[in-house]
Amino acid sequence: MASGVKPATMRALQYGGYGGGAAALKFVEIPVPSLKKDEILIKIEAASLNQADWRIQKGLMRPFHPKFPFIPVTDVSGEVTDVGSEVREFKVGDKVVSKLNLWKAGGLAEYVAASESDTVSRPTGISASDAAGLPVAGLTALQALRSIGTKFDGSGTGADVLITAASSGVGTYAVQLAKLGSHRVTATCGARNLDLVGTLGVDEVLDYATPEGAALASPSGKKYDYIVNITDRGKWSVFRPQLSSNGGRVVDVSPNLGNFLASVMTLFSWRKKLSLVILTLGKKDMGFLLELMREGKLKTVVDSRHPFEKAAEAWERSMSGHATGKVIVEM
Ligand SMILES: NC(=O)c1ccc[n+]([C@@H]2O[C@H](COP(=O)([O-])OP(=O)(O)OC[C@H]3O[C@@H](n4cnc5c(N)ncnc54)[C@H](OP(=O)(O)O)[C@@H]3O)[C@@H](O)[C@H]2O)c1
Repeated sequence: MASGVKPATMRALQYGGYGGGAAALKFVEIPVPSLKKDEILIKIEAASLNQADWRIQKGLMRPFHPKFPFIPVTDVSGEVTDVGSEVREFKVGDKVVSKLNLWKAGGLAEYVAASESDTVSRPTGISASDAAGLPVAGLTALQALRSIGTKFDGSGTGADVLITAASSGVGTYAVQLAKLGSHRVTATCGARNLDLVGTLGVDEVLDYATPEGAALASPSGKKYDYIVNITDRGKWSVFRPQLSSNGGRVVDVSPNLGNFLASVMTLFSWRKKLSLVILTLGKKDMGFLLELMREGKLKTVVDSRHPFEKAAEAWERSMSGHATGKVIVEM
């Protein structure tokens, strides 16, 4: 192993059972993780929260996950301070971004052991906070848009696309990626975020609390070739009439039971259908998003930054369901 300076112990924030929200997160002093051959030790500079983090605490994957005590959070960026004997891609001192394994997580800590296969280099000029926002939300947005055939190099002619919850972590990336793909974008968000979502380049924006917003009706009267659904309250019965009659499709990253059933019912439909998108990690995809960021074509919309000591406030903010963009913890 090639080793930088690292202490024997570190501070981490963990919880010991299901439920309890932010109040259940407790600081502990524990040994800095030891490394397997294919792992790197990251001194974490920033981490970002996702809905999955606190949904797991609420018991989303009960009884299989997590094992207690559990240090949550999967999206981190920081500096490599040690590398396992079989690590080839990274060396001590490299800046990296990692989407930690969901089962191990460990991002609310000063150090974490990350697999080389879950990690990419962070290009110069991208801050740790901006990079830490990317993994789960950025990859979900990218994969949803790729699933509708989006070309991100400007070679496509684009389509009429509705993106719901455009102010969310996933939504803020999805809107920017859809515009890079030359789509004509209608977006939904709450009244307080209409201006922000406008600055991301949408063509039309709908306040979801208005009757038109609730019906997802385009202000210009058009029907959508695609709906990228990011809210967990979307309904197939509302989507269906807004889809273009020649093959409109919903891709749903937040399926509720009704939409899960709709995906099964419309599986063999060739006109209007709903398909689910489940995130898979691609190092290549994460590298692609970071490159867009380096080129100034993609940015992380930051809802709030919280020092590590106040990470519980970040947890609460994410649990509120009212973040605009990404909630970041800075170590
Ligand atoms: N498929 C996957 O693998 C995958 C991966 C990541 C995330 N997800 C899912 O994607 C969704 C978004 O996650 P996130 O972390 O990006 O969420 P988030 O940042 O916590 O989303 C909060 C934002 O959503 C807006 N919002 C809530 N309900 C809305 C509605 N009905 N219409 C329009 N905007 C609405 C809120 O606006 P207001 O404050 O104005 O209400 C707020 O700005 C979650 O359901 C999550 O579970 C799925």
